[in-house]
Amino acid sequence: MNYKFIVFEGIDGSGKTTQSKMLSNKIKGVYTYEPTEGDIGKVIRGALSGKRAYRKETLALLFAADRMEHVPIIKEMLKNKHVVCDRYLYSSMVYQSIQGVELDFIININKFSIRPDVLIFLDVDIEESINRMGKRDKEIFENREMLELVSKKYYEIIKNKVFEPKYGYIIIDTSKKTIEDVHNEIIENLRDKGIL
Ligand code: TYD
Repeated sequence: MNYKFIVFEGIDGSGKTTQSKMLSNKIKGVYTYEPTEGDIGKVIRGALSGKRAYRKETLALLFAADRMEHVPIIKEMLKNKHVVCDRYLYSSMVYQSIQGVELDFIININKFSIRPDVLIFLDVDIEESINRMGKRDKEIFENREMLELVSKKYYEIIKNKVFEPKYGYIIIDTSKKTIEDVHNEIIENLRDKGIL
């Protein structure tokens, strides 16, 4: 059996975490995410909450370092199961480049990242994203202006096929759809592509 590495990306409030966990359950895969719960991931979360300010390049290096530790674990898990990863290198390309870090630099420091089989990009109206996030504590990237920039940047990365996944992309607008509908749409798309 050839197990697949499936990556979810999307703006905050797009339903990534819910959908990636649901898919992982459905296909009896492993759910994992970035930033991780490792030591470096913890430093990153401190920076995201605004508790500690780092230079933008330092933050990019921290995400890359966190991923460098994560990738061998993913490779190991892929020997026995499908792996569903909630955010990956594309998040660095989007968020860190919006912060002003050069895309080439981001790609370089992430050169040991493995190519996913497919990238599932979940889109959502900015208004709905803000509503879905509700009152939960906002991280530094969670405001309207940023959400718009993030969405635009994801489309740019996808259009330019930067680090194109083996089976390409699945793009789903989750606005006004139920969790169940989006889940079924994901499964259908994965089957159409011959991934499942
Ligand atoms: P987290 O709350 O863990 O995830 P989510 O918002 O998906 O529930 O926070 C992740 C934040 O980190 C999110 O705002 C995007 C950002 N991020 C980067 O800037 N670069 C990266 O490489 C990754 C993986 C995440």
